[in-house]
Amino acid sequence: MCGIVGACAQRDVAVILLEGLKRLEYRGYDSAGIAILDDNQNISRLRTLGKVNQLIEAYEKQPLLGRTGIAHTRWATHGKPSELNAHPHLSNDQIAVVHNGIIENHEQLRDELVAAGYQLTSETDTEIVVHLIHQQLEFTQDFLKAVQCVVKKLRGAFSLAITDSGHPGRIIAVRCGSPLVLGIGIGELFVASDCLALMPVTQRFVYLEENDTVDIQLKGYQIYDKDDQAIERVIETIDLNRDVAEKGEFRHFMQKEIYEQPKAVLDTLESRLGDTCIYKDFLGDTAKDVFSQVQNIHIVACGTSYHAGLVARYWLESIAKISCQVEIASEYRYREKVIPENTLFICISQSGETADTLAALHQAKGLNYLSTLGICNVAQSSLVREAELVFMTRAGVEIGVASTKGFTTQLVALLLLTLTFDSQHEDLSTFISQVKTLPELIKSVLALDENIRLLAENFADKQHALFLGRGIEYPIALEGALKLKELSYIHAEAYPAGELKHGPLALVDDQMPVVAVAPNDQLLEKLKSNLQEVQARGGELFVFADREAALSESGHFHVISMPKVPPILSPIIYTIPLQLLAYHVAVIKGTDVDQPRNLAKSVTVE
Ligand code: M6R
Repeated sequence: MCGIVGACAQRDVAVILLEGLKRLEYRGYDSAGIAILDDNQNISRLRTLGKVNQLIEAYEKQPLLGRTGIAHTRWATHGKPSELNAHPHLSNDQIAVVHNGIIENHEQLRDELVAAGYQLTSETDTEIVVHLIHQQLEFTQDFLKAVQCVVKKLRGAFSLAITDSGHPGRIIAVRCGSPLVLGIGIGELFVASDCLALMPVTQRFVYLEENDTVDIQLKGYQIYDKDDQAIERVIETIDLNRDVAEKGEFRHFMQKEIYEQPKAVLDTLESRLGDTCIYKDFLGDTAKDVFSQVQNIHIVACGTSYHAGLVARYWLESIAKISCQVEIASEYRYREKVIPENTLFICISQSGETADTLAALHQAKGLNYLSTLGICNVAQSSLVREAELVFMTRAGVEIGVASTKGFTTQLVALLLLTLTFDSQHEDLSTFISQVKTLPELIKSVLALDENIRLLAENFADKQHALFLGRGIEYPIALEGALKLKELSYIHAEAYPAGELKHGPLALVDDQMPVVAVAPNDQLLEKLKSNLQEVQARGGELFVFADREAALSESGHFHVISMPKVPPILSPIIYTIPLQLLAYHVAVIKGTDVDQPRNLAKSVTVE
């Protein structure tokens, strides 16, 4: 959940590190810090509460010079956001450490350090690491050995980057359960939580494997595996377009990403759809064999990705006739399970680094599943490396903390997967030609942006909102509510509309806006009755409805006319206006759209 960046170069590195932190801010943004080691063996450090911009301002007043450095943007786990808890942490002005993840046995180690005379100045789990390395160096006098020895004492999931004032031009970095890449520049080396941070300085990366340690020196680097044996890892060239981290004409990344959806969906469909069939080759050779045996599916994910799984259940059971269970990863991993024969495990994650989803995948690999399949947007992620079968979405880099194009491309992937399971379906050609219309349909909904912006003004002064949907639109209502609450901090709940009279109706008054999604499907008439129930109790309704749904506006009943949509596509299309609604409410309220308070893009801690 935090972002790490480090650099060893023949030039001053502070500006490179600060630029890297800006690009990693999606991982956490409650405080930030930088430590620079100069050629005279002095470490200087700056730490600030708040976003990376505060650190940049502090740096402009007090520039740090030196050719070796590490930096960090934090999402607090142990200890509140504060300057004292911000990284890098130092021991005796000699060792500096930045850390992403959690050290689970920090309390016991802290007690041992205190007993040994160390004074700890922060509430973090990280600070024990820096003192342990200092302590170990007193024995070994060997920087690398000291780090390797300390890492063996740590329990949890973490990545680290460390400097020692005795070694200008050297950084040691460790990956144990949290992502870390080595960046290889021309005569300079870098390390970061995500290659995005290093895009301005290199396109050549080594994705460190679990339990790797890398010793980075100006003359070159050496990677060591979990047994401390020197090992080679493949260098990959990642051709990331430098513009992906720029907002361009848009005011926020989220807005840009909403507008990128026609292309993201088109890219996700590319070379996967024939005229009358779905091409399965991209799933790999074993998929054919596995898919022919699947009788049940278990889907596991978190947050928005979980909502994608809920939608998929309707498709899988109604189209492919495969029974499907969907579960939140943090629940799945801690319960006893019965796995029916011939069950496929599917995990969904935009980032591929969500700790609970990865833990569920690890567990599933030891259970009686036919196979494990990951749906993911980041090719270099842990999930892609660990799942047996992989379906890549092609949304492109998603920076806004609120997932938008990540979600719609997951839905596209899940719909294609459903159709793959029933390649003999009598309506397959019709479904395929409908799926091909998705990009244009999304564009036609984006054209409603201004209407939705005007509508959003009704929400800005509200404390609560209800979202209603029925059938396959219920997960879309859940997703709409999640978007509104995470972006605007308005308390929003979603209900299947038929459940309203079993309790939530008591909440309805003129201060409770009620949003409903009403495509023209077999549940429309039922939904209309539910909307009447709200209207009769003075609730203000905002209904996104098929233009043929025969719903008319009146007083507190607002209707936003949506294009006619084939039923299998309606969850994808009806997501778009809810994203726009949440976006505009957040802009009107002045909240931080791309980096909502208390959240982070990749939840790499439990
Ligand atoms: O990267 P993942 O898809 O695994 O992330 C899962 C959730 O953390 C994520 O969808 C989260 O709910 C978003 N902030 C929602 O917009």
